[in-house]
Amino acid sequence: MDRQQRLRIAVQKSGRLTDESLDLLHRCGLKFSRGKDQLMCYGENMPLDVLFVRDDDIPDLVQEDVCDLGLVGLNVLEEKRLAMLARGTTPRIEVLQKLDFGRCRLSLAVPQEFVFAGLQSIAGKRIATTYPHVLARFLRENGITAEIVTLSGAVEIAPRLGRADLICDLVSTGSTLTANHLREVAVVLESQVCLVRTPVALPGVKADWVRRLLVRVDGVQQVRESKYIMLHAPRSALSQIAKLLPGSESPTVIPLDGTGDKVAVHAVCRETVFWETLESLKAAGASAILVLPVEKMLA
Ligand code: PRP
Ligand code: ZN
Repeated sequence: MDRQQRLRIAVQKSGRLTDESLDLLHRCGLKFSRGKDQLMCYGENMPLDVLFVRDDDIPDLVQEDVCDLGLVGLNVLEEKRLAMLARGTTPRIEVLQKLDFGRCRLSLAVPQEFVFAGLQSIAGKRIATTYPHVLARFLRENGITAEIVTLSGAVEIAPRLGRADLICDLVSTGSTLTANHLREVAVVLESQVCLVRTPVALPGVKADWVRRLLVRVDGVQQVRESKYIMLHAPRSALSQIAKLLPGSESPTVIPLDGTGDKVAVHAVCRETVFWETLESLKAAGASAILVLPVEKMLA
């Protein structure tokens, strides 16, 4: 494949971010087929190919221009950036956009019996983590001295094995902590997925596609929560109804034939539409309420 013409994006091979990353690309219009354990997929309708790798490898692949783009958690990105700085390399990866998925936090968690009364309680303790640089920065910023035990995985069992007194690990649903009788006590870093790009200048065709992709990503993010609402209402109830529509701009009002005072109201709501909202709309006089998903949006 011609690297001058085709973009290559690195995506987590199998993990928390994989499905949603592929879903995002799919919603941006990319068509590709993925066989099991395939390392690479070729875009069929865009000059964009997907490379499947370990998430921890994504920052280096992008920094070294092996991939033009990457979808990676801020947690991994920050750790790699700090690691680069520590070994004298300047991190030059550019974050194009923070995305609204893959939210999780890097947190300190202690065994149930650990007496935690503020960060001072961890001074002098051993903390197991796969994020030594982010943790070191956190400790430094909080004026705490503690021992960092760097592991490459299975951090949550370190306290039980006697290798550490507490851990610093990612928490998403919290079920890993619960299963290991650990309790979250402090957030070290809030994370979400970032779209990153190579520090190397892109040739025209590829730069154009990155721009188009960004506009589409923006559109995808906007429609995630958006709904199209249609309802009938007496004209007299219009102002009250408009106030009840969550996150909508001025609705379209259409007269209804042969119904006297009644109108149809159409609006795009950019926030979640709950059942409670529909009940309030009904109480305000609305009827025939329809809520439809929005598939695409281009501002
Ligand atoms: C993280 C972390 C925990 C789990 C927490 O691993 O190390 O094992 O997720 O999630 P939970 O709160 O929903 O239980 P991750 O999926 O990032 O895998 P990796 O570290 O191997 O990339
Ligand atoms: Zn990982």
